[in-house]
Amino acid sequence: MHAIGIDIGGTKIAGGLVAEDGSIVRQERRPTPAGDGGAIIAAVVEVVESLRADEPVAGVGVAAPGFIDAEQSTVYYTPNIPWRSEPLRDELSARLPGLAITIDNDANAAGWAEFRFGAGRGSHDMTLLTIGTGVGGAIITDGRLLRGGFGAAAEIGHMRVVPGGLPCGCGQRGCIEQYGSGRALMRFANEIADQRGIGQALAAARQQHGELDGHLVSELILAEDPGALYALRELGGWLGQAAASISAILDPQLFVFGGGVASAGELLLDPIREAYLAHLPARGFHPEPRFATAELVNDAGIVGAADIARTAVAR
Ligand code: BGC
Ligand code: NA
Ligand code: ZN
Repeated sequence: MHAIGIDIGGTKIAGGLVAEDGSIVRQERRPTPAGDGGAIIAAVVEVVESLRADEPVAGVGVAAPGFIDAEQSTVYYTPNIPWRSEPLRDELSARLPGLAITIDNDANAAGWAEFRFGAGRGSHDMTLLTIGTGVGGAIITDGRLLRGGFGAAAEIGHMRVVPGGLPCGCGQRGCIEQYGSGRALMRFANEIADQRGIGQALAAARQQHGELDGHLVSELILAEDPGALYALRELGGWLGQAAASISAILDPQLFVFGGGVASAGELLLDPIREAYLAHLPARGFHPEPRFATAELVNDAGIVGAADIARTAVAR
């Protein structure tokens, strides 16, 4: 039977009717109502109603960008949406009677999808980092998603890399989210544009369009503009350093990087690998894991959330 997967992102709410083999049969999307938790819930309800219209579904998985509890029902905290101890599953259940609903972390959902159907196929210990508005994480150990004691494991974005560093939406400072996210990439690109020399093309794009955005910077990266590549190397350096610390704790055989910037492929993976090797504890003697970019990219949250919901119902 098909299941529904919903991915609540910073800019859009994407939903899909997903088959057991991970393929998406039908998709729906709505813009994310900015900063309004109630309006987001209403939009999720609309997307689910539309996707369930024609046939029975096994369950609904909802991927949300925050800390989720062990019952997979409450959002403890979302750094980039104003949800605090939000009983999301009950709120959705009340409006969607007759459906089994499971809440999961967005990056967990994406990581599970990559593990089952994408870049992680065939591995058993994999760590995924998603590079978007925030930095998300998913940890697969021994073929299972690591959930931790309270459900909120794998919040890799809030691993501290700079003591006393930049303030973060989680209430702390110096998290990798502030140095390895899409927002951080924009900050680096703007800093480089402010300088003469390699920042010329970035500065010109900024002047022409009013500001730099992910799309403009990606275009310049793919055109191998030296300024944009410098910004990407800075991002990769931070992510590689974080990956080295993750290796000391989890020792994954594979790191997968997702999010829009993953389309840069080797241009992103090269600086990550370089920084990883430079910062790896027991460097030179610890086996080198594989580094890959995500395969399902934009669909991973939907596909993973649906698959998790289906197995939760079967349990
Ligand atoms: C949140 C995570 C989420 C990530 C990506 C972080 O700020 O804490 O829960 O997975 O952003 O959306
Ligand atoms: Na996670
Ligand atoms: Zn943080």
